[in-house]
Amino acid sequence: MFPYKIKEDFYYVGVNDRKTELFERIIPIPYGVSYNSYLLVDEKVVLFDTVEMSFADNAIEKIKIALNDKKIDYLIIHHLEPDHTSGIKIYLNEFPEMQIICSKRAKDMLDGFYGISDKIITVDDNSELSTGKHTLKFIYAPMVHWPEVMMSYETTEKILFSADAFGCFGTLDGRIFDNFIDPSIYDKYIEEMYRYYVNVVGKYGVPVQSTMKKFEGLQINMICSLHGPIWIDSRESIFKLYDRLSRYEGEKGVVILYGSMYSNTEKMAEVVARGAYEANAKVILHDVSKSDISFMITDCFRYSGLIIGSPTYNGTIFSKVQDILERLELRGLKNRTFGSFGSYTWGGIAVRQLNEFSEKMKWDTVGSVEVKQSMKISDYQNFYNLGRSVGEKVAGL
Ligand code: FEO
Repeated sequence: MFPYKIKEDFYYVGVNDRKTELFERIIPIPYGVSYNSYLLVDEKVVLFDTVEMSFADNAIEKIKIALNDKKIDYLIIHHLEPDHTSGIKIYLNEFPEMQIICSKRAKDMLDGFYGISDKIITVDDNSELSTGKHTLKFIYAPMVHWPEVMMSYETTEKILFSADAFGCFGTLDGRIFDNFIDPSIYDKYIEEMYRYYVNVVGKYGVPVQSTMKKFEGLQINMICSLHGPIWIDSRESIFKLYDRLSRYEGEKGVVILYGSMYSNTEKMAEVVARGAYEANAKVILHDVSKSDISFMITDCFRYSGLIIGSPTYNGTIFSKVQDILERLELRGLKNRTFGSFGSYTWGGIAVRQLNEFSEKMKWDTVGSVEVKQSMKISDYQNFYNLGRSVGEKVAGL
């Protein structure tokens, strides 16, 4: 049926964006993204979040079908980032009677971004709203990943409206629940959840942990995020995924990132990869000049072994490798088993700097190999041993 009924009295009224190439103008989204919005039609009618401006008319049509001539009493804003709120004036024009419910921090932002200061009700952490048959409890979730973020928990059906948390890239294409998705497509959503977490939320592991503590003892039957499918069958596994990522705990695997101007460092990377593979570790290898950085830093978060190769370039680390280091430092990536390798022509600096970076990040540096100009036959074993030793440590051998 249309719009999608997700539970008695609840509807999905979100949209799919297949036009945007770069989310936040920086992260490629080859599978698009959904901007989710939900409607509760009870004695009081509640809209949960709006959508990005260019999709507002589409979302409003869906809302009107579900409303069946009723009026919206409240708009709850869980997160004020403009991918969810840039359409808000179009909504207010269409539904002028509705009052806005949001956190205290969101009130200032509404004024700052949109000049909206009327008909706003701010709610406290743990406060409740009765809509008739249903009760909503508000849960503040500051810095997941903005300061004004809050979630709502519906106490009868036990639905968590989780803002960006547990969201992923990928349009919904007719499907909205995780349990009806073909496994190959489902896996893609999970991959994109990793990438969403690392790139958008990844800096805020501690606030994510604090928020997840608030869920303890709470029965949650359904998770309605602002992006991606509604999670029912997968709710336990995605909680675990978030818990693991926010504690910076990696899976067993070795990520090898290398920069190479003339393929000398690339040849070393191949030998390092062979060593890690023969230690029974999963191996993921990226040429930093070809892979997109959003995918590379996701793999660095996902797996506990990290080996980085760089030539000395202009007296320092290859710039595309340096970009990755900056992103990892910004996100405070912890608990990695590390190795480094590289080459130089007249003065070796990059590998020393890579090891200094590892020390600064408090990673465990297992080995390091650097050669002048090119890898000789006599060097192969050293590069193989580097991969093997990181692989064995990660694999727990
Ligand atoms: Fe989906 Fe943080 O906005």
